[in-house]
Amino acid sequence: MTPWISPSILAADFSRLGEEVRAVLEAGADTIHFDVMDNHYVPNLSVGPMVLESLRGAGIDATVDVHLMVKPVDALVESFLKAGADYITVHPESTEHLHRTLSMIRQGGAGAGVVFNPATPLAVLEECLELVDLVLIMSVNPGFGGQTFIESSLAKLRRARQLISAADHPVRLQIDGGVKVENIGRVAAAGADTFVAGSAIFGQDNYSQVISAMREEIARAAADA
Ligand code: DX5
Ligand code: ZN
Repeated sequence: MTPWISPSILAADFSRLGEEVRAVLEAGADTIHFDVMDNHYVPNLSVGPMVLESLRGAGIDATVDVHLMVKPVDALVESFLKAGADYITVHPESTEHLHRTLSMIRQGGAGAGVVFNPATPLAVLEECLELVDLVLIMSVNPGFGGQTFIESSLAKLRRARQLISAADHPVRLQIDGGVKVENIGRVAAAGADTFVAGSAIFGQDNYSQVISAMREEIARAAADA
């Protein structure tokens, strides 16, 4: 699967969000990762569906994957479907009925994602693989940008890649948290094909330089495989 680099808007300058999103897309980003936090499921508060709607209204038509760190989640799934999400990713802990939530996302016309916190076992993936288009492995505890990559996520990526290989439809394997140029090669080698990076991209002056450097590292990992 073609690798996707997905800047997380959480690290963008919110006072200029539209410009920031355009800038990373022009710099070569493949998709936009849209982090939604509710100060309940995670101890932080970010943005809601109106902000995505407004980006869409401003003509941003890139693929947007919405990472919902909210509980309860179903009502916001509906709102983000209406707001123009392409993928919606949910944590199993945030819904009483994961199967129903994932089905809702697909019925609404978006790709369905399931996300695993560092201490959440992958076992649930075996029960919902046929319903998901994206599997997200958290390499930090959700809630904040700029945290350190948890190394055991590499082994978890390998296990997730193995489980995904049983699927009879395409499933993206995404990594989120602490990803940067220095570790993205190892992350790719462990099986990820979709790379979220917030501070590593928005923290630099030259977005295109860092995105190109990431792409080179991913290509090198593929060549070494
Ligand atoms: C963390 C969010 C991440 C975060 C990544 O809860 O889900 O998407 O913005 O930020 P960095 O890349 O800075 O770790
Ligand atoms: Zn995220």
